[in-house]
Amino acid sequence: MAVNKKILITGGAGFIGSHLVRRFVNNYSNYHIYNLDVLNYAGNLENLKDIEHKDHYTFLRGDITNEVYINSIFNAYKFDAVIHLAAESHVDRSIKNPLGFAKTNILGTMVLLNAFVSLWKNDWKGKRFYQISTDEVYGSLGASGLFKETTPYNPNSPYSASKASSDHFVRAFGETYGMPYVISNCSNNYGPNQFPEKLIPLFINNIINKKPLPVYGDGNYTRDWLYVKDHAMAIDLVFHRGKNHETYNIGGFNEYKNIDLVKLLCKQMDKKLGRDFGTSEKLITYVKDRPGHDLRYAIDASKINNELGWAPSLTFEAGLSKTIDWYLDNKAWLENVTSGDHMNYYTNQYADI
Ligand code: NAD
Ligand code: DAU
Repeated sequence: MAVNKKILITGGAGFIGSHLVRRFVNNYSNYHIYNLDVLNYAGNLENLKDIEHKDHYTFLRGDITNEVYINSIFNAYKFDAVIHLAAESHVDRSIKNPLGFAKTNILGTMVLLNAFVSLWKNDWKGKRFYQISTDEVYGSLGASGLFKETTPYNPNSPYSASKASSDHFVRAFGETYGMPYVISNCSNNYGPNQFPEKLIPLFINNIINKKPLPVYGDGNYTRDWLYVKDHAMAIDLVFHRGKNHETYNIGGFNEYKNIDLVKLLCKQMDKKLGRDFGTSEKLITYVKDRPGHDLRYAIDASKINNELGWAPSLTFEAGLSKTIDWYLDNKAWLENVTSGDHMNYYTNQYADI
């Protein structure tokens, strides 16, 4: 099929980005998909081996903060749309390196916005900038309530503050320059290919290796979990059918306290590894809390559900089971990404256990 749209996906070698790139390359042969990624520790082209040979897919290695490079690729390829995922994404790293997060997440987003606006100026027909954001920009909930699209931004970590700031710039470019944009704010993703610094893959890896499971604080923090392929499906819908200048909240309707999630994970893994029930739970170790730890996130996803007909396809138990199976079947991937630099991060972050 002839290509009728050129789409730039940033951060496409990372966790969510790789699932999105695969979905778009496999489903839309009328699009040329350009995947721009600097390949930091979380970016991994192994995630895209199955589609890298396709004619309507191109990988571009580059840094979104490099203005000269970004302007050059926008001028060369004339992207009709941008789906922007590239970011520093781990809260704990943002506590140690807030400036690095400001640079990538705020400045990098602005460089992309500038390049997009310079390219199309007043010729916006069929163009769109899609900002992939997070529920963390809304701050923390108490015991009740849900984040709605109208909830005021109130970020608490350097990561969420940098994401909030970049969202504001996207809106500002929409208002000031007439750039068509859409933003979605999603809850915690889990699934295959997630870098094992985040809760679920870190704990899967530690259970495999019989290492302590470092639960921050009392473990009574709550997150709303969504299987990554369901997020990619939602992004596809918002990209194609979402309204310009609107925000869509995406969530799993699936709240779990960390400690309950960890116990479920232990139970499923004991079964899959043929270990006695209760073996993995003994690895749970309560450690010093994360500074500024948000108590609870929960998304009201009724807007995307009502307007675009989106709903998660998997229960959490089923998604978690598939996720564990993927990590058990891909031990080489896991060993590859946990060797080298990751070990330095790990020993520094978890020095007390
Ligand atoms: P990730 O860390 O797995 O992937 C980020 C990707 O961006 C990596 O491939 C990395 O190499 C690339 N990248 C980083 N800095 C770059 C730069 N300067 N130039 C070019 N590429 C760069 O992150 P993820 O979990 O896949 O998250 C992707 C996006 O989705 C982020 O914007 C994040 O804020 C957002 N998000 C994540 C979640 C979640 O639960 N993981 C939830 C909601 C929103
Ligand atoms: O809500 C969406 C966000 O979810 C995304 O925007 C972020 O990119 C993504 O990293 C994620 O942020 P969290 O901070 O919620 O995810 P993380 O996996 O780091 O932690 C989940 C919960 O588990 C959180 O309450 C902290 C806790 N935790 C985490 C780690 C890594 C622990 O108790 N121990 C740990 O070792």
